Amino acid sequence: MLNILKIRDEFPILKRQINGKPLIYFDNAATSQKPRVVIDAFTEYYQNINANVHRGVHNLSQEATNIYEEARVKLQKHFNAKNTHEIIFTRGTTESINLVASGFSQLLKKDDEIIVSQLEHHSNIVPWQIACEKSGAKLKVIPINEKGEILLDAYKKLLSKKTKVVAISHVSNTLGTINPIKEIINLAHKQNAAVLVDGAQATSHFKVDVQNLDCDFYCTSAHKMYGPTGVGLLYGKEKWLNKLPVYHGGGEMIKEVTFEKTTYADLPFKFEAGTPNIAGVIAFGKSIDYLHNIGFDKIITYENDLLEYATQELQKIPDLKIIGTATHKASVISFIVEGIHPFDIGNIIDKLGIAIRTGNHCTQPIMQHYNITGTARASFAFYNTKKEVDIFIKALQKAIIMLS
Ligand code: ALA
Repeated sequence: MLNILKIRDEFPILKRQINGKPLIYFDNAATSQKPRVVIDAFTEYYQNINANVHRGVHNLSQEATNIYEEARVKLQKHFNAKNTHEIIFTRGTTESINLVASGFSQLLKKDDEIIVSQLEHHSNIVPWQIACEKSGAKLKVIPINEKGEILLDAYKKLLSKKTKVVAISHVSNTLGTINPIKEIINLAHKQNAAVLVDGAQATSHFKVDVQNLDCDFYCTSAHKMYGPTGVGLLYGKEKWLNKLPVYHGGGEMIKEVTFEKTTYADLPFKFEAGTPNIAGVIAFGKSIDYLHNIGFDKIITYENDLLEYATQELQKIPDLKIIGTATHKASVISFIVEGIHPFDIGNIIDKLGIAIRTGNHCTQPIMQHYNITGTARASFAFYNTKKEVDIFIKALQKAIIMLS
């Protein structure tokens, strides 16, 4: 069992009042709130350690380097990567995907194929479209059913010797669908295609083991995992990271520079040009420690219970339709109410202290599938409670009466 009172006490922002009401934060899929240990990591770093990493003989630089590299080891262990140098720090999931897609744009040839799904966030569509424009490769899309689940039979038909990359989300940010990622990866590997998993919405809910999945790339963001914004992770199998061309050029990513020719650093530094977000990476490590102290088994059990309860209560509201009813879901619920714009719902319940997201959630193709312009979305974290769900339901009923 989670000690919710203790947990809530560890997140200072949860004590805030919004519009005179206690904050109910149901926008965790956009970004999660931060526990004090993560916030404190910044003060500790800037007050006592601040120096550039991998660059100095002086004590502070070495301390900063050690603690920065310790975070990489934490991430390696957490995701069960085989090697520490398979963990690359980026600015976020978007940059991780762009790094890989940009590399592939130089490896792909005309008529090669990249497969994505209709469930993808724009950040797992647009970089691949750019790669297609540059290389002449073609983008193929796995369709979804009415529940918001990937059609595996259609996927099998799309796969062929031409498939070079499959780029797929682990969990849909809009619908909460958990994709059968292991099966998707296995099928792609039968065609020797590389698989990139966009894990931005998965890693806060359950533990991911990249060796067990056997994915070639896995991307996520610290800020979805109760860590800071501006830091992300790219896991890549060593053989793929060695094969991919460099992304950003600059300091740190080189071995030797002359005007005639530059040679590049070994992994992971080949992909980490410039001064990294040192404090952010250290704080990311703290958020991983924090999550381990709570326990992922407890988190998933608690969030599933909250999801079930909220789904059941929302279904009682007349004219409300849940968009995305996959059998396997993370704690994300999108919904629409007949005749009412999602933005108006979001606006009214915000006045009552409740934060949800409205709009297309950077997934316009999902909206096109359902023939809607947007949804209201409530996404839950382990610090949310059933009591908050009850207040949310009442607020929603009030909003619907006002807007009808
Ligand atoms: N991708 C984030 C969301 O779904 C921002 O809200």
